[in-house]
Amino acid sequence: MNEQEFIPSEYSELVTSGTTTWKAPSNIALVKYWGKFPDQIPANPSISFTLSNAATTTTVAYERKQKSDGGASFDLLFEGKPKEEFRPKISTFFHRISKYMPFLNEYHLKIDTSNTFPHSSGIASSASGMAALALCLMDIEKRMKPSMGTEYFLKKASFLARLGSGSACRSISGPVVEWGQHKDLSNSSDLVGLPYEGKVHEVFQGYQDTILLVHKGEKTVSSTAGHDLMNNHPFAKPRFAQAHKNLSRLLAVFETGDLQEFIEIVESEALTLHAMMMSSIPYYLLMKPQTLSIIEKLWAYRKQSGLPLCFTLDAGANVHLLYPQKETAKILQFIKNELVAYCENGQYICDQIGGGSEKI
Ligand code: DP6
Repeated sequence: MNEQEFIPSEYSELVTSGTTTWKAPSNIALVKYWGKFPDQIPANPSISFTLSNAATTTTVAYERKQKSDGGASFDLLFEGKPKEEFRPKISTFFHRISKYMPFLNEYHLKIDTSNTFPHSSGIASSASGMAALALCLMDIEKRMKPSMGTEYFLKKASFLARLGSGSACRSISGPVVEWGQHKDLSNSSDLVGLPYEGKVHEVFQGYQDTILLVHKGEKTVSSTAGHDLMNNHPFAKPRFAQAHKNLSRLLAVFETGDLQEFIEIVESEALTLHAMMMSSIPYYLLMKPQTLSIIEKLWAYRKQSGLPLCFTLDAGANVHLLYPQKETAKILQFIKNELVAYCENGQYICDQIGGGSEKI
């Protein structure tokens, strides 16, 4: 696969106007993407569970302009209101994808987007947001190329989403998505996220992700800045090698369903991600005291109960608790009794592994 296949040939005709709506979920990485080359080419492969409830729904109304003025123009509503802060990221996105979507220059877009999770909850909205927008744009392109097959549609949507935000390329399909070249993944690519086609043990069916909202404020260092700090990072090389190794180990776990091994890989990945932040120059911390309290409580509970509950972290203070569906009642009780106290305003989100994006 290469970039060329996403550059379209001439469109037969440009449509005048229309509207399209897509819903794309968030995703949680088990092996983390941390470190990149330009245009979100990942420094190491990653793999994620697609979520179900945490999602972005985006509607794009498009209208052909009287005359092309050399760039994509758009209005942006977030949860019904104009959102100036989001404009630069979307402008950059349109700029990056213009080579792959040349028709965009001819249109004015009205983008109306909303999340199912609370605004500024600290949950990565860029993954679901960029994925939903990329899918809407693909829908417009498909109107001009009606023969386009579903596989290409989804692949290009993932390719475009990646240009908006790396992890967004893993939010198109589900339930398990791989991204980045790896020796044990025959078709893997740095350009797109693809549904993992190997065996996934039944223990992972309906796997739960309860997201504890520890800190809802702005992050002190953005993910993009964090990725940059992996350039010249003293531990970058061994970290990238470790991600490759952990991915191989995880693929074996998907076969066997060995949850002890799963826990070790997933928690080690989360802590290594934060260790990279703590050991970059400049160094920084995104975990909060409550994050650590939750981890310690979880470890104590796991030891005492024997239940296969583990945590993972994104680039933030919130904690994702991962566990098999059949343990839900017991673990939710534990969360209510012991962990809710560490959540900002007692807030948490119950989610689970999901099938990917959908057209609304
Ligand atoms: C820690 O995809 O948000 O969540 O590509 O710069 O937009 P950009 O970064 P982003 O990085 C997310 C990193 C992570 C791990 C992961 O999702 O794999």
